[in-house]
Amino acid sequence: MDNQKIKNAMDFACSVVRKDMDEFKEGFPGAQSRNYKYQTNGGLDWTDGFWTGMLFLSYEYTKDKKYLELAEKNVDYFKNRLDKKLSLDHHDIGFLYSPSCVADYKITGNEEAKKYAIKAAEHLMTRYQPKGKFIQAWGAMSDEKSYFLIIDCLMNLPLLFWASEVTGDTKYADIAKNHLYTALDVVIRDDFTTYHTYRFDKNTGEKLGGKTAQGYSDNSCWARGQAWGVYGTALAYHYTKDESIIEKFEGLTKVFIEKLPKDNVPYWDMIFTDGDEPRDTSSAAIAICGIIQMAKYKKYPEFEAAADRMLEALIDNYTSKGKPDMNVILTDAMYSRPAGHNPEAAIYGDYYFMEALMRKLNPDWKMYW
Ligand code: GLY
Repeated sequence: MDNQKIKNAMDFACSVVRKDMDEFKEGFPGAQSRNYKYQTNGGLDWTDGFWTGMLFLSYEYTKDKKYLELAEKNVDYFKNRLDKKLSLDHHDIGFLYSPSCVADYKITGNEEAKKYAIKAAEHLMTRYQPKGKFIQAWGAMSDEKSYFLIIDCLMNLPLLFWASEVTGDTKYADIAKNHLYTALDVVIRDDFTTYHTYRFDKNTGEKLGGKTAQGYSDNSCWARGQAWGVYGTALAYHYTKDESIIEKFEGLTKVFIEKLPKDNVPYWDMIFTDGDEPRDTSSAAIAICGIIQMAKYKKYPEFEAAADRMLEALIDNYTSKGKPDMNVILTDAMYSRPAGHNPEAAIYGDYYFMEALMRKLNPDWKMYW
């Protein structure tokens, strides 16, 4: 794909972020838009880190300090949220603190941000269940019904791996590895499709079985879960260099690509391969980032070509360009079809789309994960 096309897409994305900054001020967009308008709220969702990550990406790309100033104000919000433990009783601590505090530290060297990112990693470790060896996704740690992991959590592990790297203390990575190997063992089926969630017996840690929360059915393959698997294994390989992860990455990615419809943007669940079911553009953006990341270690010409086709499809057919009433970047993300949602924008879709563009434009970009 022509580099200018990627540059134009990044210019457009940064212009949307710039416009949104005036509207959102120090607030945060919700996880998904309503009629393609993000509503600003006071935060406290699992997705708040993505907006901050978009500000950091815009700053790195444009060098315009206005983005950085707001990103750093956002970082103060994340510090306060952690001090007061506001809505942090879940596993999405990596999604919150990697694109905010870790990013700030990596870009500006902000020691306070580093301190809080490590503190966030400490907090994430409190979600670990030794019986079953996994990080519990949601609910009270004592709740039998909440005794499960979800595939998304692969994306929270980099915070732990990073914390071990910067502190020299292996305790964070030890927990990350325990969760990683449990998750890879239980959520990936023999054909490399995936379960969204996997339940364990609270008393014995025994494996009980896979289910879905956001997919079509327990035995289908939720597209975003598969994408979290693609990117999650690429990141796990980056931190562990464990060769056994390569086979998982390859299997998950092959399935993701094989199940793409003709226009290269997945349906919200990969049980659908044609027809008029809604898409999930965010899944494509996440998978593209994973493929580009893994290509740093091993060449995958077919995967990389598919990633380019997906990215081009997003740029050509799924942005809000020419629709000034929208304040989003990517259209047609699906948050949760079982919850009755319709195609909208999702803030994580917008973030990963920008990350994918950044990765293409600057192969040396230092990731926030
Ligand atoms: N981590 C939740 C989601 O992907 O919707």
